[in-house]
Amino acid sequence: MIELVGVHKAFGEQQVLRGVDLVVAEGTTCVLLGVSGSGKTVLMKHIDGLLKPDQGTVRVDGEALMQLSARELENVRRKLGILFQAGALFDSLTVFDNVAFPLRERAHLQEPEVARQVRHTLSLVGLQGAESLYPSELSGGMQKRVAFSRAVVLQPKVLLYDDPTAGLDPLTTESVIDVIVTGKKRVGATSFIVTPDVSMAFHVADFMAFLHEGRIVEHAPPEEFRQSRHPAVKSFLHNWLQRESLRNPRGDTRLPP
Ligand SMILES: Nc1ncnc2c1ncn2[C@@H]1O[C@H](COP(=O)(O)OP(=O)(O)OP(=O)(O)O)[C@@H](O)[C@H]1O
Ligand SMILES: [Mg+2]
Repeated sequence: MIELVGVHKAFGEQQVLRGVDLVVAEGTTCVLLGVSGSGKTVLMKHIDGLLKPDQGTVRVDGEALMQLSARELENVRRKLGILFQAGALFDSLTVFDNVAFPLRERAHLQEPEVARQVRHTLSLVGLQGAESLYPSELSGGMQKRVAFSRAVVLQPKVLLYDDPTAGLDPLTTESVIDVIVTGKKRVGATSFIVTPDVSMAFHVADFMAFLHEGRIVEHAPPEEFRQSRHPAVKSFLHNWLQRESLRNPRGDTRLPP
């Protein structure tokens, strides 16, 4: 469903992606990990065509994005539900209208059905009652949840999430994870998730990928990933475990599952 081959991307002198190869099969969930600044967001922006590679190919559902006209690219993007790292809500629209936006623009539903789906989706992340507020009236975590609702409301076949649980409390994080997992079961969605939350990664991933020095240096199912011999992956997981044990001083930290 998603395929990157030899993707290179530089900004001026800075070479961010140096030959990324990655495949996400239909119906699977791939979680991308890597230290802050390693290029995870840049990589994700290549999948929705927001950034163009200097070299290499990106295919989504069999279509090579570079070869598409603006209109064809728009058709591919319609298959995607995207949650950006910084929520990117429409400031002048209420919560309700933000979430209704894709339903009205793309699904052309009758208003009562729009309202039903918006309310349902908001309730999944505990936001019933916030419908008439504007983004500036929400907390950071609430904004994140509205952006999440807007990404999933059309139940797209391909979902790209950049840091979906940032700033959320543990309970809300659970709800977001629930929606991701249910989407996969219900519509066989393909998900690509960027997150610094390693516990969540182990819970939702079919495959985990690690971006280091511009390349994917590990790509494996969770149980294999945690045994990785790559030094950068080992040190990343080691640091995470140490932070976890600080948070949980009884020392019963384990790598899930
Ligand atoms: N449009 C841009 N122009 C110039 N440099 C950019 C641009 N977008 C990203 N970069 C640079 O590319 C590098 C990778 O950024 P990116 O946002 O992909 O990191 P990340 O892995 O997502 O980090 P984080 O985990 O903190 O979100 C950074 O050094 C950033 O400054
Ligand atoms: Mg990022």
